[in-house]
Amino acid sequence: MVRLVLMRLDHLAGVLALGNRVFDVTAMPYTSWSLSSVAVHLDAQPLACWVAESDEEVVGFVLGSMSYDEREDWGYLEWIAVDPAHQGQGLAGKLLDACCGALFAEGATRIVTDVEASNVASATLMQRNGFSDRVTVTLFVRHAEPTGAVPGKAHRSTKQPSDPAKARLRRAARSDP
Ligand SMILES: CC(C)(COP(=O)(O)OP(=O)(O)OC[C@H]1O[C@@H](n2cnc3c(N)ncnc32)[C@H](O)[C@@H]1OP(=O)(O)O)[C@@H](O)C(=O)NCCC(=O)NCCS
Repeated sequence: MVRLVLMRLDHLAGVLALGNRVFDVTAMPYTSWSLSSVAVHLDAQPLACWVAESDEEVVGFVLGSMSYDEREDWGYLEWIAVDPAHQGQGLAGKLLDACCGALFAEGATRIVTDVEASNVASATLMQRNGFSDRVTVTLFVRHAEPTGAVPGKAHRSTKQPSDPAKARLRRAARSDP
């Protein structure tokens, strides 16, 4: 039997693992998926973070927070996922309701979520649960020029992309008084 419970610290590993299975963390908008992202939600808005459990396993989750961009009265439903073995049974709808209920109770005047254009399951989930399609933002991407094409650069840089978790720690350390 699957039951919905508020997310606890001991769910962190299961939530992270499920997200890693279902989100393509190399592609937008999932690149910021990480343990610290989960922990920040749990820390800031514990009543808006729910887990679906089956036999003590995490089979679904939703993570919400208050404030979107600069708006402190807008809730943000940022992450939702259901294990493929449990999809199509209305679980995401229930998780979404629990999260939205908490954010409205917290004072949200609206709740925002973003859906990647090709994610039909996510778009249908939102449309069936009271969300309407309001603003479309397209991410235009310009890649670095191929080797030699950038004036003044003789070689392609051998620098590896930095680890996002380490970058966050560096930023946090810099902002410490
Ligand atoms: C999106 C997701 C959470 C939906 O989970 P779910 O538990 O299967 O969703 P539900 O069963 O509650 O279905 C909600 C609605 O969406 C529809 N739906 C679900 N999957 C669908 C699909 N692949 N194609 C079309 N519609 C779909 C359902 O039919 C239902 O509509 P209905 O009420 O009219 O029948 C799940 O597919 C998932 O985890 N995807 C990968 C992670 C992801 O993309 N998350 C969203 C971005 S953070």
